Amino acid sequence: KKRIFSGMQPSGLITLGNYLGALNNWTKLQDDYDCLYCIVDMHAITVRQDPQKLRKQARDLLTQYLAVGLDPEKNIIYYQSHVSQHAELSWILNCYTYMGELSRMTQFKDKSAKHADNINAGLFTYPVLMAADILLYQTDLVPVGEDQRQHLEITRDIAMRFNGIYSDTFKIPEAYIGKVGAKIMALQEPTKKMSKSDENQNNTIALLDEPSVIMNKFKRAMTDSDNQVRFGEDKPGISNLLGIYCAVTGVSPEAAEREFANAGYGTFKTSVGEAVVAKLEPIQKRVKELEANKDYLDSVIKSGGEKAGRIAERTLSKVQKKVGFPVKI
Ligand code: TYM
Repeated sequence: KKRIFSGMQPSGLITLGNYLGALNNWTKLQDDYDCLYCIVDMHAITVRQDPQKLRKQARDLLTQYLAVGLDPEKNIIYYQSHVSQHAELSWILNCYTYMGELSRMTQFKDKSAKHADNINAGLFTYPVLMAADILLYQTDLVPVGEDQRQHLEITRDIAMRFNGIYSDTFKIPEAYIGKVGAKIMALQEPTKKMSKSDENQNNTIALLDEPSVIMNKFKRAMTDSDNQVRFGEDKPGISNLLGIYCAVTGVSPEAAEREFANAGYGTFKTSVGEAVVAKLEPIQKRVKELEANKDYLDSVIKSGGEKAGRIAERTLSKVQKKVGFPVKI
């Protein structure tokens, strides 16, 4: 079986964007691939986090991974910080990554503009840790949203560079970006992406938002002064809502346009909200059930970390040998 690796930061409540761009695809891949799904808490501290909150968010993310249907019997689910090989490989790869290529990362530019008071070295080398995550497991495919494409490119560049110097060591991974849902936009500002860290809560749908809250947010979503429900570059709001509708229902873009050809914006927005609620309600129910089962969650994360560590160590020790570290006796 081919291997899949992906991860998500426990840096806040996960959104409909995270779900449609990533999680939902992960659940579809779990039967056909050998998958590792990581909770990347080490990436999360590139932005200041409250320790208690971070710990809780990591646990909540684990619960949500399981609630959307990731099966811990089929996938390795674990916390990044529990597998020290990530940090170790990341250090080594730092020495094979150029300042120039990291300076070109758009996420670094965006985040350093947003957190001007804390432009730390970790924020800068963030993509190297991400490359380590992926390369440790000899990953074939990385299912992510559109915003991670550039990080996948640099991961491939680092891997090819290392292989070029030391002979084949890393599998060269490919991004797996879905056709629908790969870039969900903010509801009130549909020209920017929906993001966990958005201060305007009306811009985002959290996976755990109450149905009434979801309906309200969709009702308030920005549209345009036209009255046609169709995709179009001139219609970012409506296109985003149509995209969400297609992604949650599985209806094709053409069929969705036909379905709402004669609908007003109000009716359309209500239908989108209802489709999202129908998709999220069962997940929210499972979150509640799982939260009550502390021992089960503990056992999932413990065994996931152990399994991941064993695979990661195989790659790390190969790399350590290749770069010339003395062999441990
Ligand atoms: P993160 O935590 O920001 O987002 C997790 C996943 O959600 C996708 N995503 C979106 N998809 C569609 N529309 C949106 N508005 C949207 N917002 C987020 C992201 O593309 C991502 O797939 N750097 C990564 C985490 C990471 C990782 C990795 C991913 C660390 N190591 C190794 C893959 C492989 C990140 O910050 O994701």
